[in-house]
Amino acid sequence: MKLSIILLKQVSQFRFSNYIPTRRIPGNILIGKHRVRRSLTQGEKQDMKQRIEIELENMAHLSRPYLTEAEDNLYENDPIRKEHEEKVLALKRREEEIPKHIYLKRDLLDRVACWDTLYEGELNNFNEFGDEGEIWFGKSILSKLVDNVCQLVTDKENTTILDIGTGNGHVIQRLLARGYTHLTGIDYSENSIDLARKQIGSNVKFQVIDMTSSDTSSLLDHYDIGIDKGTLDAILLCAPDQRKAKRDAYIDTVYRHIKNLLFIVSCNWTRSELLEFFQPKFSLEREVDTPTMMFGGRQGKTVTFLILKRNN
Ligand SMILES: C[S@@+](CC[C@H](N)C(=O)[O-])C[C@H]1O[C@@H](n2cnc3c(N)ncnc32)[C@H](O)[C@@H]1O
Repeated sequence: MKLSIILLKQVSQFRFSNYIPTRRIPGNILIGKHRVRRSLTQGEKQDMKQRIEIELENMAHLSRPYLTEAEDNLYENDPIRKEHEEKVLALKRREEEIPKHIYLKRDLLDRVACWDTLYEGELNNFNEFGDEGEIWFGKSILSKLVDNVCQLVTDKENTTILDIGTGNGHVIQRLLARGYTHLTGIDYSENSIDLARKQIGSNVKFQVIDMTSSDTSSLLDHYDIGIDKGTLDAILLCAPDQRKAKRDAYIDTVYRHIKNLLFIVSCNWTRSELLEFFQPKFSLEREVDTPTMMFGGRQGKTVTFLILKRNN
């Protein structure tokens, strides 16, 4: 019994290959020139065959164009795509029709011819496309200005307001919308006045007047409130040697015609510079907060907004 178990064990361990004579040399047979390669299993061969089949299928797909001819024609005649392309073309054509933007030269900004050219362009744009034109210092400053007028000037029906250097009349437009009735806009550019009249209509008085001319008494009325958004800035862009004379002439005119408050918004002058210009004829009633910025480690304002009171 014991012998038979031993024999059985030996038979189960018996490997024929051990007894088949081969020309293999003894020793390490995994590397070197006598290396013996392991034969592939049936499963590995099957797996390789499947991979080759997948690869062939991929190559067949890739060698064909993405769309068939019929699909390609469908794309060509697609109405949605055609409509989109027509819209893009129309937009491009419209852009080409818009007159080129006119850039102002800084040293010309105090000359009426320059403003006339600018407003001629804006007038054309308004006539053709209904474009409302440039909003100086942006919408938020315009809203701030109008909000502050509304806060301080509550008698909307009796207070007279003068918009000094009215430009395209945006300030007047906003004040009209808030219920103010006695509004006047003046500017020394005739094209500006044409444009403002066209945008606003005849219920507002507009006049062509130069704020730096020596005597405006016979031309201009007296107003409770004056508003200047960017006009003194434009006037003081003149040659440096004319600056003081122009500034004094402007402040004299404002003092002659404004009885109470002057709302002034400037991008070129600081609070202290403006106060120095206007004293002793006007003094500070309020400074309105405007956006600040850092430059060279110092904080400053992009726009100064002061409300000045006329001293009697
Ligand atoms: C920067 S734009 C501002 C326009 C307008 N206040 C606004 O905020 O939209 C300056 C305006 O001042 C006007 N202006 C410049 N010098 C002037 C002067 N001496 N008398 C009257 N208006 C003048 C220009 O024609 C221009 O319309």
